Formats: sequence, structure tokens, C-alpha cells
Amino acid sequence: MNAPAIKTAAPKSFRIKSYGCQMNVYDGERMADLLTAEGMAATPDGDEAELVVLNTCHIREKAAEKVYSEIGRLRRADGSRPMIAVAGCVAQAEGAEIVRRARQVGVVVGPQAYHRLPELVAEAATGRVGIDTDLPALAKFGRLPARRRSGPSAFLTVQEGCDKFCTYCVVPYTRGAEVSRGWSAILDEARALVDGGAKEITLVGQNVNAWTGEDEAGRAQGLDGLIRALDRLPGLHRIRYTTSHPNDMTDGLIAAHGDVERLMPFLHLPVQAGSDRILKAMNRSHDARSYLAVIDRVRRVRPDIAISGDFIVDFPGETDADFEATLSLVDQIGHAQAYSFKYSPRAGTPAATMADQVPDAVADERLKRLQALIAAQQAAFNRGTVGRRTDALLERPGKRPGQHIGKSPWLQSVVVDGGAIGDLMPVEIVAAGPVSVTGAAVPID
Ligand code: 5AD
Ligand code: SF4
Repeated sequence: MNAPAIKTAAPKSFRIKSYGCQMNVYDGERMADLLTAEGMAATPDGDEAELVVLNTCHIREKAAEKVYSEIGRLRRADGSRPMIAVAGCVAQAEGAEIVRRARQVGVVVGPQAYHRLPELVAEAATGRVGIDTDLPALAKFGRLPARRRSGPSAFLTVQEGCDKFCTYCVVPYTRGAEVSRGWSAILDEARALVDGGAKEITLVGQNVNAWTGEDEAGRAQGLDGLIRALDRLPGLHRIRYTTSHPNDMTDGLIAAHGDVERLMPFLHLPVQAGSDRILKAMNRSHDARSYLAVIDRVRRVRPDIAISGDFIVDFPGETDADFEATLSLVDQIGHAQAYSFKYSPRAGTPAATMADQVPDAVADERLKRLQALIAAQQAAFNRGTVGRRTDALLERPGKRPGQHIGKSPWLQSVVVDGGAIGDLMPVEIVAAGPVSVTGAAVPID
């Protein structure tokens, strides 16, 4: 599409603001790689950037409205407007509507088309809006530049999209059908990340445990096979994956939790609700009991595993009894952490037009109770780790001079004195707070 845009000089500097999930963080990094390869410079100070990329999320709340107000506010330090590119799932969902409503936007690019970002930016600089919201299956990966540098902990997208069609969720529409990236492309990227400094890799996908592929010998593999291949990669110390669906927790993947030492003892496995009636209305295709059975099997092979999850309160028709069933399920699981959200109707999804949308006042009260319960479980989990000797992968500076913040194997934030970013520091957990623990360096034996 070639609607007129505001003509600007070709931008030489950029800033990317990513919202939402880990896949967006990964996509944001890849867009930065692309723009850097074109000779543009990343600005640490957003006010200076000549191009601002809003890498948006559409999963909940008035996402699109928030993007429009952000667009309206964006100014450079000298008061001029930067070129604005809207990327991510709001771009996919809204498409050309974005430029109709916000004339300042020069580029609209969906999650499967961002390999074309530099071209679209060049087009916008000539005064024509660059729009691409096609959804080809993973074509972009072959066109992205090789990865060169990495932080100690890196994301690697291996799978995108979703075929599950939970009735509340936009992902099947904004990210498209489930597609897996190829085996060697993933292993090549993993090697490049390790060469670039990564000690930990998190395999990312909307349904990452639905990943399937073939290895070099043409044998069918699942996510567990990929994890075992990564386990043989020299220099890689930690492997994680997110986000998973309970129905895709295969025997092989559960077994990997028991015998792959580098696979960290952490599992983010959303259940969403505890009432079977609500789970059915959500089209989750599992019930509370089958979910607990999966957790039980993972715990049998890896007793210390930290369980995380996602919950939605106030799905249409949720009664007090349904909500109590969620609290009871949470009680039985015992989380190391979990996210809970108020149901947010998304246009185009089946749940948005269901009867009995729950009033806000009830929703707020239920959300508060659920969050209090989860917070108590998280604090208890943290207390339970005091006295453990483990290691922390240091990722960023702490508040005090010399202090660093890292992650434990159980994905707790660990605050330590000393060390350096990138260290896998042997620590003893000596104190626990509600959302983090304190580690003391222990000598390496
Ligand atoms: N409303 C509220 N929460 C939602 N999620 C997905 N769609 C919605 C919605 N319409 C939550 C689910 C999912 C997480 C990423 O976001 O819990 O697991
Ligand atoms: Fe959305 Fe359900 Fe797919 Fe998760 S499994 S991305 S909640 S449709």
C-alpha cells in the first residue's frame, strides 16, 4: 500500500520499544540487528532517535488505544517528531487502520514481515507509507543477519503461532498457525549466540512444546530432542523454554526434565483456570485433573522444579464457585511464581460475544485474592530455597555499587555483592524476600 506519509530524511538512529512477551523481546533484538546492519545506530536515549519502532502486544487490555496515545506523545528532544514504525501484533491486527488514525506513522509491519523493516523505512522516507502485514510461515528467519553479540541470557525463537484457539485469545489470529523453525537453523543460531557470549538460551514459542522437526539424519524430533542437542553444545550452561501448553507435555519432554542437567528446573505451564466448566468454555482441551497429573509427573522426575503459570479471572460466566475452584487448584500446585490477568475481551475472539461478562468490581476483588495467594506461594518458595548452594547467572548491575542481579536455576532474581555480568557465580542463598533472594558468594570447590 502506498498511502502518503510525512516525508522525512532517511533516519540514521533508532530505538526499539518492545512490549509484551519474550517473543517480542526476541523480535525487537532481531529488528535491531537488521537496522544496525544497515548502518543505523541504536540510541540509548530514546528522545534522540530519528526512528522509533513500537513493537506492540495485542494480548490484553486496550492495547491498540495505548499505542495510539504513545504515537501521539512521541517527540524528539528538539520537539520534532521521529519517524514511527508500528511493529508486532497490534500492527498485524490493525494494519492500514493505523495510518488512517495516526498520520505520523511511516511504517506498519507485522510479526512475520519484519525482515523487510529497512526497506519499509526507506519507503517511508520517500513519503510513502510502508506496510507489510503478510503472514508467510517464518520466511523472515532466512533473511535476518547472523547474530553477533549476546547478553549472558538469550532468547531464541524456535516456534511461532498457535492452533489451539482458546476462545479468549488473539494469538492464532495475530501470529498465525503453529509453525516450527528448522533444526539446523536453530542449532546454528544457538552456536552463534554462545559464540557471542550467551551462557543461557531460552527457547521461545507461543506453543514452544508443540515444536516438531527432523534432525540432520532425518529422524523426527520433538522439543526434547532439540533440548538434548543443545545439551551437547560446548559453552552453553543453561537451557530453558517458554511458553508451553499442558497437552504438549510429551513423555520425552518430561523425561528430559529428569536427566538433562542443563535444562533448568523451571516450568511455565499455564492452566488459566481451575473450574472444568470454565476450562471447557475456554476451549483449553484439558481439565484441572489432567493438568495436575502433568505437574505430578514432572515433579516425580525433578522434585525441585519451580512451577509457574498464567491465570485468567472473570472469564465470561465465571461464578464464585468457579473462582473458588481456581484458588483450590493454585493451592494444590504451589507456585514459584505465576501471572494472573483480568479477562479482557478481544474483538474477533469467540469469548468476546459470550453472555455473562463479569462486572469489573467482582473482577478486581477476585484478581486481588488470587494475586495474594500466588504472592504468598512465591514468598514460601523463596524461603524454601534459603540454605541451598547453587549458581546465579549475573545479568545486570544491582542498585548498590558492586552489586549484581542474576537468576537462579529456579528463575528467582538473586542479588549478590561482587562478580561481573556474565559470571555463573557459585552462591549460597542466604535470605529470601517476596520477589527475590539474596546470594552470598561461595568458594568454588
Ligand atoms: N484476557 C486476559 N488474559 C489473556 N491472556 C491471553 N488472552 C487473554 C485475554 N483475552 C493471558 C493468558 C495467556 C497469557 C499470555 O495472557 O493467561 O497465557
Ligand atoms: Fe492463546 Fe491458547 Fe494458543 Fe496460548 S494456547 S497462544 S492462550 S490460543
